[in-house]
Amino acid sequence: MSRNVLKVKERKDRYKVCYMPGDDSGFDMMEGALVVLLSMDLPIDWVRADLGWCMWEKSVNKFGQGDPRCNTVPPETIDKIRSSDATLMAAITSKSGVKGFKSAILQMRQLFDLYINLRPAKTLPDLGSPLKGDPKIDLVLFRENTEDLYSAVEFHPLPEEMFNLHKGMERFRKMGDVAVSWRVFSSVGCERIIRAAFEYAKSTGRTKVHCCNKANVIRETDGMMKRIFLEVAKEYEQYGIAGIEENADATAMWLIKNPQDYQVIVTSNVFGDILSDEASQLTGGLGFAPSGNIGENTAIFEPCSGSVPKYAHQYRVNPSAMLLTSKMMLEYLGLDQAGQKIEWAINEVLKENRPKTLTYDILRDFRNDPDWERNAASTIEMATAIAQKINPSLTDSTLEDIKAKAREMCDWTKTFGFED
Ligand code: IPM
Ligand code: MG
Repeated sequence: MSRNVLKVKERKDRYKVCYMPGDDSGFDMMEGALVVLLSMDLPIDWVRADLGWCMWEKSVNKFGQGDPRCNTVPPETIDKIRSSDATLMAAITSKSGVKGFKSAILQMRQLFDLYINLRPAKTLPDLGSPLKGDPKIDLVLFRENTEDLYSAVEFHPLPEEMFNLHKGMERFRKMGDVAVSWRVFSSVGCERIIRAAFEYAKSTGRTKVHCCNKANVIRETDGMMKRIFLEVAKEYEQYGIAGIEENADATAMWLIKNPQDYQVIVTSNVFGDILSDEASQLTGGLGFAPSGNIGENTAIFEPCSGSVPKYAHQYRVNPSAMLLTSKMMLEYLGLDQAGQKIEWAINEVLKENRPKTLTYDILRDFRNDPDWERNAASTIEMATAIAQKINPSLTDSTLEDIKAKAREMCDWTKTFGFED
Protein backbone atom coordinates (compact mmCIF):
# COMPACT_ATOMS: atom_id res chain seq x y z
CA MET A 1 0.00 0.00 0.00
CA SER A 2 1.26 3.45 -0.81
CA ARG A 3 1.49 6.00 1.98
CA ASN A 4 -1.32 8.39 2.92
CA VAL A 5 -0.46 11.54 0.97
CA LEU A 6 -2.84 13.59 3.08
CA LYS A 7 -0.28 13.38 5.89
CA VAL A 8 3.27 14.74 5.96
CA LYS A 9 5.92 12.21 4.92
CA GLU A 10 7.85 12.30 8.15
CA ARG A 11 6.53 12.97 11.65
CA LYS A 12 8.80 15.32 13.63
CA ASP A 13 8.96 17.01 17.02
CA ARG A 14 9.15 20.38 15.33
CA TYR A 15 8.11 21.41 11.83
CA LYS A 16 9.35 24.07 9.50
CA VAL A 17 6.39 25.84 7.95
CA CYS A 18 6.73 28.32 5.12
CA TYR A 19 4.12 31.08 5.32
CA MET A 20 3.31 33.34 2.40
CA PRO A 21 1.17 36.46 3.02
CA GLY A 22 0.51 36.85 -0.73
CA ASP A 23 -0.96 40.19 -1.82
CA ASP A 24 -3.35 42.87 -0.58
CA SER A 25 -5.83 41.50 1.99
CA GLY A 26 -3.79 38.30 1.96
CA PHE A 27 -1.46 40.10 4.39
CA ASP A 28 -4.39 40.92 6.67
CA MET A 29 -5.77 37.39 6.74
CA MET A 30 -2.32 35.90 7.35
CA GLU A 31 -1.66 38.34 10.19
CA GLY A 32 -5.04 37.44 11.73
CA ALA A 33 -4.34 33.72 11.46
CA LEU A 34 -0.89 34.19 13.01
CA VAL A 35 -2.38 35.97 16.03
CA VAL A 36 -4.20 32.70 16.74
CA LEU A 37 -1.45 30.29 15.69
CA LEU A 38 1.29 32.09 17.66
CA SER A 39 -0.88 32.03 20.77
CA MET A 40 -1.14 28.23 20.58
CA ASP A 41 2.45 27.27 21.33
CA LEU A 42 2.71 25.00 18.29
CA PRO A 43 5.90 23.06 17.47
CA ILE A 44 6.41 25.17 14.36
CA ASP A 45 9.29 27.32 13.11
CA TRP A 46 7.94 29.87 10.65
CA VAL A 47 9.78 30.93 7.49
CA ARG A 48 8.43 33.76 5.38
CA ALA A 49 8.31 33.66 1.58
CA ASP A 50 6.59 35.94 -0.91
CA LEU A 51 4.81 35.35 -4.19
CA GLY A 52 2.08 36.90 -6.31
CA TRP A 53 1.54 40.31 -7.86
CA CYS A 54 4.00 41.97 -5.45
CA MET A 55 6.77 39.74 -6.79
CA TRP A 56 5.73 40.34 -10.38
CA GLU A 57 6.13 44.08 -9.87
CA LYS A 58 9.44 43.63 -8.07
CA SER A 59 10.82 41.44 -10.85
CA VAL A 60 9.66 43.84 -13.58
CA ASN A 61 11.38 46.71 -11.72
CA LYS A 62 14.53 44.70 -11.35
CA PHE A 63 14.86 42.96 -14.72
CA GLY A 64 12.74 45.16 -16.96
CA GLN A 65 9.48 44.39 -18.75
CA GLY A 66 9.68 41.37 -21.04
CA ASP A 67 12.72 39.83 -19.34
CA PRO A 68 12.19 36.05 -19.01
CA ARG A 69 13.19 36.20 -15.33
CA CYS A 70 10.07 38.24 -14.52
CA ASN A 71 7.73 36.03 -12.54
CA THR A 72 5.17 35.97 -9.76
CA VAL A 73 7.31 33.41 -7.93
CA PRO A 74 10.96 34.12 -7.16
CA PRO A 75 13.46 31.25 -6.99
CA GLU A 76 13.96 31.92 -3.24
CA THR A 77 10.28 31.13 -2.63
CA ILE A 78 10.47 27.85 -4.53
CA ASP A 79 13.48 26.83 -2.39
CA LYS A 80 11.67 27.73 0.84
CA ILE A 81 8.55 25.77 -0.13
CA ARG A 82 10.71 22.80 -1.10
CA SER A 83 12.65 22.78 2.15
CA SER A 84 9.62 23.19 4.46
CA ASP A 85 7.35 20.48 5.87
CA ALA A 86 4.26 22.39 4.75
CA THR A 87 3.32 25.80 3.36
CA LEU A 88 0.54 28.13 4.46
CA MET A 89 -0.42 30.66 1.84
CA ALA A 90 -2.81 33.62 1.89
CA ALA A 91 -4.60 35.06 -1.12
CA ILE A 92 -2.79 36.50 -4.12
CA THR A 93 -3.82 39.07 -6.72
CA SER A 94 -4.08 38.21 -10.42
CA LYS A 95 -4.40 40.82 -13.16
CA SER A 96 -5.62 39.88 -16.60
CA GLY A 97 -4.10 41.20 -19.80
CA VAL A 98 -0.57 41.54 -18.39
CA LYS A 99 1.85 40.06 -20.90
CA GLY A 100 3.95 37.23 -19.51
CA PHE A 101 2.06 37.13 -16.20
CA LYS A 102 1.41 33.60 -14.90
CA SER A 103 -0.59 32.82 -11.79
CA ALA A 104 1.69 31.92 -8.89
CA ILE A 105 -0.55 29.18 -7.52
CA LEU A 106 -1.06 27.55 -10.92
CA GLN A 107 2.71 27.42 -11.34
CA MET A 108 3.18 25.87 -7.90
CA ARG A 109 0.49 23.24 -8.52
CA GLN A 110 2.32 22.07 -11.63
CA LEU A 111 5.89 22.52 -10.41
CA PHE A 112 5.32 20.47 -7.23
CA ASP A 113 2.75 18.16 -8.86
CA LEU A 114 0.14 19.05 -6.21
CA TYR A 115 -2.46 16.80 -7.79
CA ILE A 116 -5.02 16.90 -4.98
CA ASN A 117 -7.02 20.01 -4.29
CA LEU A 118 -8.82 19.18 -1.08
CA ARG A 119 -11.82 21.43 -0.41
CA PRO A 120 -14.03 20.63 2.54
CA ALA A 121 -17.41 22.34 2.93
CA LYS A 122 -18.82 21.92 6.39
CA THR A 123 -21.51 23.91 8.16
CA LEU A 124 -20.44 25.37 11.50
CA PRO A 125 -23.37 24.83 13.89
CA ASP A 126 -23.48 28.48 14.96
CA LEU A 127 -23.23 29.86 11.46
CA GLY A 128 -25.43 27.38 9.60
CA SER A 129 -26.28 27.30 5.93
CA PRO A 130 -28.16 30.01 4.01
CA LEU A 131 -30.19 27.22 2.38
CA LYS A 132 -33.81 26.59 3.28
CA GLY A 133 -34.14 24.23 6.25
CA ASP A 134 -30.54 24.92 7.37
CA PRO A 135 -29.19 21.52 6.26
CA LYS A 136 -26.18 20.04 8.02
CA ILE A 137 -23.48 19.80 5.38
CA ASP A 138 -20.20 17.93 5.75
CA LEU A 139 -18.64 17.13 2.42
CA VAL A 140 -15.11 16.99 1.10
CA LEU A 141 -14.34 17.70 -2.51
CA PHE A 142 -11.29 16.14 -4.19
CA ARG A 143 -10.53 18.29 -7.20
CA GLU A 144 -7.90 17.05 -9.66
CA ASN A 145 -5.41 19.90 -9.65
CA THR A 146 -2.94 19.60 -12.52
CA GLU A 147 -4.71 18.47 -15.70
CA ASP A 148 -7.87 19.23 -17.70
CA LEU A 149 -8.19 22.76 -19.15
CA TYR A 150 -5.57 23.84 -16.59
CA SER A 151 -2.90 22.00 -18.58
CA ALA A 152 -2.15 25.35 -20.22
CA VAL A 153 -1.86 23.87 -23.72
CA GLU A 154 -3.59 26.44 -25.86
CA PHE A 155 -3.52 27.59 -29.48
CA HIS A 156 -4.33 30.99 -30.90
CA PRO A 157 -4.09 31.56 -33.78
CA LEU A 158 -4.69 27.94 -34.69
CA PRO A 159 -1.90 26.36 -36.77
CA GLU A 160 -3.21 25.12 -40.12
CA GLU A 161 -2.41 21.47 -39.34
CA MET A 162 -4.80 21.55 -36.37
CA PHE A 163 -7.71 21.88 -38.79
CA ASN A 164 -6.65 18.57 -40.36
CA LEU A 165 -6.27 16.71 -37.09
CA HIS A 166 -9.92 15.74 -36.71
CA LYS A 167 -12.90 15.78 -39.03
CA GLY A 168 -14.84 17.63 -36.36
CA MET A 169 -12.59 20.63 -37.01
CA GLU A 170 -13.80 20.92 -40.60
CA ARG A 171 -16.76 23.18 -39.76
CA PHE A 172 -14.52 25.64 -37.92
CA ARG A 173 -12.40 26.31 -41.03
CA LYS A 174 -14.92 28.84 -42.27
CA MET A 175 -15.23 30.52 -38.87
CA GLY A 176 -12.07 32.58 -39.31
CA ASP A 177 -10.52 33.36 -35.95
CA VAL A 178 -10.47 30.17 -33.85
CA ALA A 179 -8.87 29.43 -30.46
CA VAL A 180 -8.39 25.99 -28.92
CA SER A 181 -7.52 24.98 -25.35
CA TRP A 182 -6.67 21.34 -24.85
CA ARG A 183 -8.49 19.40 -22.17
CA VAL A 184 -5.88 16.83 -21.21
CA PHE A 185 -6.64 13.87 -18.91
CA SER A 186 -4.23 11.01 -18.16
CA SER A 187 -5.24 7.68 -16.69
CA VAL A 188 -2.55 8.12 -14.03
CA GLY A 189 -3.99 11.55 -13.21
CA CYS A 190 -7.54 10.19 -12.97
CA GLU A 191 -6.60 7.15 -10.95
CA ARG A 192 -4.54 8.94 -8.31
CA ILE A 193 -7.21 11.52 -7.47
CA ILE A 194 -9.95 8.85 -7.44
CA ARG A 195 -7.88 6.62 -5.14
CA ALA A 196 -7.14 9.55 -2.84
CA ALA A 197 -10.90 10.20 -2.52
CA PHE A 198 -11.72 6.56 -1.75
CA GLU A 199 -8.84 6.23 0.71
CA TYR A 200 -10.08 9.34 2.48
CA ALA A 201 -13.62 7.92 2.61
CA LYS A 202 -12.27 4.68 4.03
CA SER A 203 -10.12 6.30 6.69
CA THR A 204 -12.85 8.69 7.85
CA GLY A 205 -15.73 6.21 7.86
CA ARG A 206 -17.62 7.80 5.00
CA THR A 207 -19.92 5.57 2.97
CA LYS A 208 -20.33 7.34 -0.39
CA VAL A 209 -18.04 8.78 -3.03
CA HIS A 210 -19.58 10.70 -5.93
CA CYS A 211 -17.66 11.14 -9.18
CA CYS A 212 -18.91 14.19 -11.08
CA ASN A 213 -18.24 14.04 -14.78
CA LYS A 214 -19.74 14.74 -18.16
CA ALA A 215 -18.99 11.40 -19.83
CA ASN A 216 -22.34 11.51 -21.61
CA VAL A 217 -20.95 14.31 -23.81
CA ILE A 218 -17.18 14.53 -23.36
CA ARG A 219 -16.54 10.90 -24.07
CA GLU A 220 -12.79 10.54 -24.13
CA THR A 221 -11.66 12.62 -21.16
CA ASP A 222 -14.62 12.29 -18.82
CA GLY A 223 -15.20 8.80 -20.23
CA MET A 224 -11.73 7.88 -18.92
CA MET A 225 -12.49 9.41 -15.52
CA LYS A 226 -15.80 7.55 -15.25
CA ARG A 227 -14.36 4.18 -16.35
CA ILE A 228 -11.49 4.35 -13.85
CA PHE A 229 -13.83 5.53 -11.12
CA LEU A 230 -16.16 2.55 -11.61
CA GLU A 231 -13.19 0.15 -11.58
CA VAL A 232 -11.68 1.59 -8.40
CA ALA A 233 -15.13 1.77 -6.76
CA LYS A 234 -15.41 -2.04 -7.01
CA GLU A 235 -12.33 -2.41 -4.77
CA TYR A 236 -13.97 -0.32 -2.06
CA GLU A 237 -17.35 -2.09 -2.01
CA GLN A 238 -15.90 -4.47 0.59
CA TYR A 239 -15.46 -1.51 2.94
CA GLY A 240 -19.12 -0.53 2.61
CA ILE A 241 -18.33 2.47 0.39
CA ALA A 242 -20.64 3.11 -2.56
CA GLY A 243 -19.20 4.74 -5.69
CA ILE A 244 -21.80 6.88 -7.46
CA GLU A 245 -21.05 8.51 -10.78
CA GLU A 246 -23.12 11.51 -11.73
CA ASN A 247 -23.28 14.19 -14.41
CA ALA A 248 -21.61 17.35 -13.12
CA ASP A 249 -24.58 19.56 -14.04
CA ALA A 250 -26.81 17.29 -11.98
CA THR A 251 -24.36 17.59 -9.09
CA ALA A 252 -24.55 21.38 -9.31
CA MET A 253 -28.31 21.13 -8.96
CA TRP A 254 -28.48 18.42 -6.29
CA LEU A 255 -25.90 20.24 -4.18
CA ILE A 256 -28.46 23.02 -3.72
CA LYS A 257 -31.43 20.71 -3.28
CA ASN A 258 -29.94 17.96 -1.12
CA PRO A 259 -26.41 18.92 -0.04
CA GLN A 260 -26.51 16.59 2.96
CA ASP A 261 -26.52 13.62 0.55
CA TYR A 262 -22.90 14.29 -0.39
CA GLN A 263 -19.94 13.04 1.63
CA VAL A 264 -16.97 12.87 -0.74
CA ILE A 265 -16.93 14.24 -4.28
CA VAL A 266 -14.16 13.52 -6.74
CA THR A 267 -13.98 15.49 -9.95
CA SER A 268 -11.78 17.00 -12.61
CA ASN A 269 -10.10 20.39 -12.39
CA VAL A 270 -12.63 22.81 -13.96
CA PHE A 271 -15.73 21.12 -12.52
CA GLY A 272 -14.00 21.09 -9.13
CA ASP A 273 -13.19 24.79 -9.39
CA ILE A 274 -16.86 25.58 -9.95
CA LEU A 275 -18.41 23.04 -7.59
CA SER A 276 -16.10 24.04 -4.73
CA ASP A 277 -17.16 27.69 -4.93
CA GLU A 278 -20.79 26.55 -5.00
CA ALA A 279 -20.26 24.28 -2.02
CA SER A 280 -18.53 27.09 -0.11
CA GLN A 281 -21.62 29.28 -0.50
CA LEU A 282 -23.74 26.59 1.12
CA THR A 283 -21.60 26.63 4.25
CA GLY A 284 -20.68 30.23 5.00
CA GLY A 285 -19.21 31.73 1.87
CA LEU A 286 -15.61 32.35 0.90
CA GLY A 287 -14.91 33.87 4.33
CA PHE A 288 -14.98 30.31 5.69
CA ALA A 289 -13.69 28.26 2.74
CA PRO A 290 -10.38 26.43 3.23
CA SER A 291 -8.36 24.39 0.75
CA GLY A 292 -5.19 22.40 0.42
CA ASN A 293 -3.02 21.64 -2.62
CA ILE A 294 -1.34 18.35 -1.87
CA GLY A 295 1.21 16.18 -3.70
CA GLU A 296 3.56 13.35 -2.77
CA ASN A 297 6.28 15.59 -1.31
CA THR A 298 4.81 19.05 -0.90
CA ALA A 299 1.60 20.62 0.35
CA ILE A 300 0.45 24.24 0.05
CA PHE A 301 -2.61 25.22 2.05
CA GLU A 302 -4.49 28.30 0.84
CA PRO A 303 -8.02 29.60 1.37
CA CYS A 304 -10.37 29.56 -1.66
CA SER A 305 -10.97 33.30 -1.46
CA GLY A 306 -9.31 36.05 -3.44
CA SER A 307 -7.18 38.89 -2.05
CA VAL A 308 -9.97 41.55 -2.15
CA PRO A 309 -7.61 44.35 -3.32
CA LYS A 310 -10.18 47.09 -2.52
CA TYR A 311 -9.86 46.21 1.20
CA ALA A 312 -6.07 45.78 1.18
CA HIS A 313 -4.45 46.51 4.56
CA GLN A 314 -7.78 47.64 6.06
CA TYR A 315 -8.18 44.49 8.16
CA ARG A 316 -11.76 43.92 7.06
CA VAL A 317 -11.58 40.33 5.86
CA ASN A 318 -12.75 37.37 7.90
CA PRO A 319 -9.78 35.45 9.36
CA SER A 320 -11.81 32.20 9.47
CA ALA A 321 -10.96 30.91 5.98
CA MET A 322 -7.25 31.31 6.72
CA LEU A 323 -7.72 29.65 10.12
CA LEU A 324 -9.71 26.70 8.77
CA THR A 325 -6.98 26.38 6.15
CA SER A 326 -4.43 26.35 9.00
CA LYS A 327 -6.52 23.62 10.62
CA MET A 328 -6.10 21.51 7.47
CA MET A 329 -2.37 22.14 7.58
CA LEU A 330 -2.13 21.18 11.26
CA GLU A 331 -3.98 17.94 10.49
CA TYR A 332 -1.56 17.29 7.65
CA LEU A 333 1.29 17.63 10.16
CA GLY A 334 -0.45 15.27 12.58
CA LEU A 335 -1.37 18.11 14.97
CA ASP A 336 -5.04 17.17 14.75
CA GLN A 337 -6.07 18.33 18.22
CA ALA A 338 -4.71 21.80 17.66
CA GLY A 339 -6.57 21.95 14.36
CA GLN A 340 -9.84 20.90 15.93
CA LYS A 341 -9.43 23.51 18.65
CA ILE A 342 -9.33 26.22 15.99
CA GLU A 343 -12.61 25.10 14.43
CA TRP A 344 -14.20 24.80 17.86
CA ALA A 345 -13.05 28.30 18.85
CA ILE A 346 -14.39 29.91 15.65
CA ASN A 347 -17.75 28.34 16.38
CA GLU A 348 -17.68 29.51 20.02
CA VAL A 349 -17.06 33.08 18.91
CA LEU A 350 -19.97 32.80 16.47
CA LYS A 351 -22.15 31.39 19.24
CA GLU A 352 -21.29 34.08 21.79
CA ASN A 353 -21.90 36.82 19.26
CA ARG A 354 -20.22 39.48 21.42
CA PRO A 355 -19.88 43.01 20.03
CA LYS A 356 -16.82 43.62 17.85
CA THR A 357 -15.94 39.95 17.42
CA LEU A 358 -17.46 39.18 13.99
CA THR A 359 -16.35 40.55 10.64
CA TYR A 360 -18.66 42.42 8.28
CA ASP A 361 -19.45 39.46 6.02
CA ILE A 362 -20.91 37.50 8.92
CA LEU A 363 -23.03 40.39 10.22
CA ARG A 364 -24.22 41.32 6.74
CA ASP A 365 -24.82 37.88 5.22
CA PHE A 366 -25.71 35.72 8.21
CA ARG A 367 -26.90 37.92 11.06
CA ASN A 368 -29.03 40.39 9.08
CA ASP A 369 -27.50 43.27 11.00
CA PRO A 370 -28.61 46.50 9.28
CA ASP A 371 -25.72 48.27 10.98
CA TRP A 372 -23.12 45.70 9.87
CA GLU A 373 -20.73 48.33 8.57
CA ARG A 374 -20.41 50.02 11.97
CA ASN A 375 -20.58 46.88 14.12
CA ALA A 376 -18.04 44.87 12.16
CA ALA A 377 -14.94 43.62 13.93
CA SER A 378 -11.57 43.94 12.27
CA THR A 379 -9.65 40.86 11.14
CA ILE A 380 -7.42 41.21 14.19
CA GLU A 381 -10.32 41.74 16.62
CA MET A 382 -12.03 38.57 15.45
CA ALA A 383 -8.73 36.66 15.49
CA THR A 384 -8.10 37.91 19.05
CA ALA A 385 -11.52 36.66 20.18
CA ILE A 386 -10.72 33.25 18.67
CA ALA A 387 -7.25 33.16 20.27
CA GLN A 388 -8.77 33.98 23.67
CA LYS A 389 -11.24 31.12 23.34
CA ILE A 390 -8.41 28.69 22.71
CA ASN A 391 -6.26 30.16 25.44
CA PRO A 392 -8.40 31.99 28.04
CA SER A 393 -5.34 32.70 30.18
CA LEU A 394 -3.72 34.91 27.55
CA THR A 395 -2.72 38.02 29.44
CA ASP A 396 -3.01 41.46 27.88
CA SER A 397 0.72 41.88 27.61
CA THR A 398 1.31 38.44 26.05
CA LEU A 399 -1.47 39.15 23.59
CA GLU A 400 0.08 42.50 22.68
CA ASP A 401 3.44 40.78 22.11
CA ILE A 402 1.80 38.17 19.88
CA LYS A 403 -0.02 40.83 17.88
CA ALA A 404 3.18 42.79 17.42
CA LYS A 405 5.01 39.65 16.31
CA ALA A 406 2.24 38.72 13.81
CA ARG A 407 2.33 42.27 12.45
CA GLU A 408 6.08 42.18 12.02
CA MET A 409 5.88 38.76 10.33
CA CYS A 410 3.39 40.18 7.80
CA ASP A 411 5.05 43.53 7.17
CA TRP A 412 3.92 44.40 3.64
CA THR A 413 6.57 47.06 3.18
CA LYS A 414 9.24 44.35 3.14
CA THR A 415 9.14 41.48 0.67
CA PHE A 416 11.60 38.67 0.10
CA GLY A 417 12.68 37.30 -3.25
CA PHE A 418 14.66 38.24 -6.35
CA GLU A 419 17.59 39.12 -4.11
CA ASP A 420 21.05 39.22 -5.66
C1 IPM B 1 -9.06 28.45 -7.13
C2 IPM B 1 -8.91 29.69 -7.95
C3 IPM B 1 -7.77 29.49 -8.94
C4 IPM B 1 -8.18 28.36 -9.87
C5 IPM B 1 -7.36 30.74 -9.73
C6 IPM B 1 -7.05 31.90 -8.81
C7 IPM B 1 -6.23 30.48 -10.66
O1 IPM B 1 -10.11 30.01 -8.57
O2 IPM B 1 -8.10 28.06 -6.45
O3 IPM B 1 -10.15 27.87 -7.14
O4 IPM B 1 -8.80 28.60 -10.91
O5 IPM B 1 -7.88 27.21 -9.55
MG1 MG C 1 -11.73 28.80 -7.93
